[in-house]
Amino acid sequence: MKDFNLNPFQYIDSYLEKGISNFRVPSGALYLSQSKLVSDMFNDTSLFQESSDFYTVDVRKGMLHEETQKFLNKTVMNHLKRSLGECKSKAIVEIGLISSKELVWPASGVRLMSEIYREAIIGRNPSDNLSKLYFRIVETSIINKDRKRKFLSHTLYSWNVNRVIKRELHKSDSNEKSILSIVASAPKITIDEKVSLFISFLFSIVATQAFTLSWVFYLMEQNDSYQASASSLLMESMRVWPVAWNSGRVAKKEIELEETKIKEGEQVVACTYALHRNKELWSCPHQFLPDRWEAKPKPSTYAPFGMGKHKCVAEHYSIDWLTFLIDSIKDKVDVIVQDINTPIPSPMLAPPEFKMKFRNES
Ligand code: HEM
Repeated sequence: MKDFNLNPFQYIDSYLEKGISNFRVPSGALYLSQSKLVSDMFNDTSLFQESSDFYTVDVRKGMLHEETQKFLNKTVMNHLKRSLGECKSKAIVEIGLISSKELVWPASGVRLMSEIYREAIIGRNPSDNLSKLYFRIVETSIINKDRKRKFLSHTLYSWNVNRVIKRELHKSDSNEKSILSIVASAPKITIDEKVSLFISFLFSIVATQAFTLSWVFYLMEQNDSYQASASSLLMESMRVWPVAWNSGRVAKKEIELEETKIKEGEQVVACTYALHRNKELWSCPHQFLPDRWEAKPKPSTYAPFGMGKHKCVAEHYSIDWLTFLIDSIKDKVDVIVQDINTPIPSPMLAPPEFKMKFRNES
């Protein structure tokens, strides 16, 4: 048996090859990829505790108040949609600035996304401290992923992030719309929960979207799929390597489905990586085939944005925006992939490093 911690994807593949859709990993959690169970896990709150990777800030306290969730979902999405025109213009300018340079991705994708969204996230006139901290979080926690940090420097860094964001949340101007000011004015949450939510929004907007975009270019080159449409490249990339590749819940009672028994209180994980590569649900599941998106997938077989009540609020927004970016970039670049290893496992999956250069089109 492969080592799950070293390479969870090989470990998962070895079960899928044997036709086993639901299996336990060494931590004891039950990984699910059978579509009925995955769908129940996301939808059936009589069987599984209602939860969300986003709005369950502290597992002991449960989910944030319903009013907080509704307020944030609505206000943040309105704000992002209103900022989209400006983000598109900024994207064109930023892409122009990086033209003709050979850059290393996904780091460059993360920097591009953080530049495009700076104003929408921290506002038009942020303090120097906030501006510096924003880019420090991007460099330290998203790009470097904190892997080699010593315990003390990591603790100091986290303490500083907390301190600065708390101060900025306190003084944020509610007349100016930014993710920071929206989170600052959210009802029924503590200041610590606000800090945590602000960071979650920053990560979703910058990291999740930049990593998804990076996967598209990486897989397009690897599979020589330059002719495919932006939309089918995106859908197929999110199938083969979903950035949010597992979401956890807890069973409320004993559940038995065919050969799978789940105990009350047991930790279950809807593994979208496994769902999307389950050979009972997808033909040639390990192959990158953008043309398969000429037809719609069967229900409950595709969930890069989750399912049910806590499905990603930004699903349609992200698809529109990323399709725009792929369309604006894909015919203008040469992609050079040297590292074809599987990605390093982390809660948000980034592709291995590759280089991308914009062609000189004079
Ligand atoms: C390609 C981009 C994205 C992907 C793949 C993605 C993926 C996901 C997934 C899988 C979930 C469900 C988690 C669960 O059930 O526990 C989720 C929830 C959520 N996402 Fe996204 N996300 C993306 C972009 C964004 C963006 C740009 C935002 C910014 C507003 C966002 C905000 C949220 C929120 C607020 C939730 C929680 C919804 C709830 O619990 O009711 N996501 N996302």
